[in-house]
Amino acid sequence: MGAAQNALAVLNSSAPAKKGLAARQLAQDWEQSRDIGTAIDLMPDKPARPGHPVLVSPGDVKRRRLGTKAGRGALLHAVAHIEFNAIDLAADMIARFGHHPDIPKADQTNFIGDWISVCLDEARHFDLLQTRLSELDMSYGDLPAHNGLWEAAVKTKSNFAARLAIAPMVLEARGLDVTPGMIEKLTNVGDNASADILKIIYNEEIGHVAIGARWFQKLAQIRGQEPESWFHALVSDYFAGRLKPPFNVQARTLAGLKEGFYMPLS
Ligand SMILES: [Fe+2]
Ligand SMILES: [Fe+2]
Repeated sequence: MGAAQNALAVLNSSAPAKKGLAARQLAQDWEQSRDIGTAIDLMPDKPARPGHPVLVSPGDVKRRRLGTKAGRGALLHAVAHIEFNAIDLAADMIARFGHHPDIPKADQTNFIGDWISVCLDEARHFDLLQTRLSELDMSYGDLPAHNGLWEAAVKTKSNFAARLAIAPMVLEARGLDVTPGMIEKLTNVGDNASADILKIIYNEEIGHVAIGARWFQKLAQIRGQEPESWFHALVSDYFAGRLKPPFNVQARTLAGLKEGFYMPLS
């Protein structure tokens, strides 16, 4: 099947195991056929979700203390929820924007391939966390979670540049800022198994931010926009609030996200 139809199947799968399976099918078919396909007329209003976790507003998600097994489980549950959303965000990028007229035909295969690799990473990140949660006697869905990530996706569903600016370059980049602190805290309480998973995720997320930043800059070039000022305008239109320092300048720089993008917005 074409990548767009397979990405649609990811979005339409509710059970975590099925969503992961659909992501792997997407990657496998792409390996074999490089068929882009189309699904834009069939896009769901929102991706299918399991009955749990219950979605609540961000303020209603409890703070987590890492000294206890339950506290560490709650932290990993929150990260698993982000990864679950990230699977859908990558699939949405393929199904919704894979045919965007601003992507030159010659670049389309690279664009789709990049986001398929992201989708597959996110599915693996989710699986790693789900496995670790079960070792902590928990499962994804046991705790409430918030829907902030998908709300950002809804806001940018009609603006390709805004989606690239907000999803990878604001939200995933924010992950680079906060993950080293989580790794340190987990290590300090002796939970190396959880810390090791977050290390894998952290390293691979640098690649995701890099993919987003690269396509954003390419799009800016195509549209004749100055990348940094365009980014500033899009973030102020599509993202509520300022960007929160301190920034992980080293990781952001590795991802090709220059300080000129984010420093003026803090
Ligand atoms: Fe991830
Ligand atoms: Fe990611």
